[in-house]
Amino acid sequence: MDISKLVINTFNAQFDGEPTFLARAPGRVNLIGEHTDYNDGFVLPMAIDRAAWITLRPRDDRQVRVYSLDYEETAEFSLDDLHKGKGWAEYIKGVANELKVAGFQVKGWDGVLGGDVPKGAGLSSSAALELVAARAFAAVSKFDWNPARMAQIGQKAENRWVGVNCGIMDQMVSAAAQAGHALFLDCRSLEYDHVPLPDKAAVVVMDTSTRRGLVDSAYNERRAQCEAAAKFFGVPALRDVSLEEFRAKSSALENTVMRRARHIITENQRVLDAVDAMRAGDASILGRLFNESHASLRDDFEVTNEALNQIVATAQVHPACFGARMTGAGFGGCAVALVDEKQVGGFTSTIAEKYRQRSGLEAQFYVCQPGAGAGLVVH
Ligand code: GLA
Repeated sequence: MDISKLVINTFNAQFDGEPTFLARAPGRVNLIGEHTDYNDGFVLPMAIDRAAWITLRPRDDRQVRVYSLDYEETAEFSLDDLHKGKGWAEYIKGVANELKVAGFQVKGWDGVLGGDVPKGAGLSSSAALELVAARAFAAVSKFDWNPARMAQIGQKAENRWVGVNCGIMDQMVSAAAQAGHALFLDCRSLEYDHVPLPDKAAVVVMDTSTRRGLVDSAYNERRAQCEAAAKFFGVPALRDVSLEEFRAKSSALENTVMRRARHIITENQRVLDAVDAMRAGDASILGRLFNESHASLRDDFEVTNEALNQIVATAQVHPACFGARMTGAGFGGCAVALVDEKQVGGFTSTIAEKYRQRSGLEAQFYVCQPGAGAGLVVH
């Protein structure tokens, strides 16, 4: 049964009666522009056809009660008395809290949460949950859906309530994507444009099945190194450093910081080139940019692991593959490949087999359609 039907049926059973709204917000895969978001740079993610769903009914008081299909439990809290706790409901509480801080008059509701974004794989199940919660609050509290504003609410919830220091990319694409398109986003101005994917090219997410702890500390260390580099160049963010300026001055930078900065500065240019390639419908150029991005993330930014390098190298030499790279924060999780859509079946079975032989691990594959951003159905 599809998840929207499942959450509605469960609502009937849990809360007695019919829900009023059905909200949905997708996960994402980043095509290119990695670790550039917190440098005020450019990114090109797409929403995937996997999402978090909440079906809900307004309440007359200020309680929120949510039943989670995945965890088979109900969380309940008062909008007047928000306390930090542990678990999946923290994302919803964090969003409620940030909406209140921003001055929105939030109201209570009963709801059922479900979804099919794999958790912990780097496909932004947490951003999907934040944005579907924001969509739910917007529906019952009757405020307009402003994608950029709601993405910022979701990001703040994650930064300040959940305690993860992420950038704005995941929330923006979950809030603002358009079906059939990737989202070209300027992370400084939050201006965006919808760019169609090249015909005949399929986006294949390859989950290495490796996960790494300490991602947060490694992520924060990269952020600090980028900030140190920006300071060296005397600018607010690495976004403001051109390749020419970098080349002229970088020899005075400490080697690690120099390489971190080189990744960001070249990656920003690759995003711009990728947008041009997509607008021209050129999957070959886009694929080459994927490959260059991976090399830069591996050698300069150092956020890949052995499994990511193996699966990407295996994919890159497959004849049906235009290009491949790690995607998301890195250190484990997923890679993304651009593949001739007629040969996807052969591609995934070959890569699965070769990856198994080389690493002893089982990969998961998700062929992703570019989906729409957060949406709402009124019953
Ligand atoms: C994670 C963060 C994003 C972004 C990526 C790396 O997904 O949540 O904000 O920084 O890593 O590009």
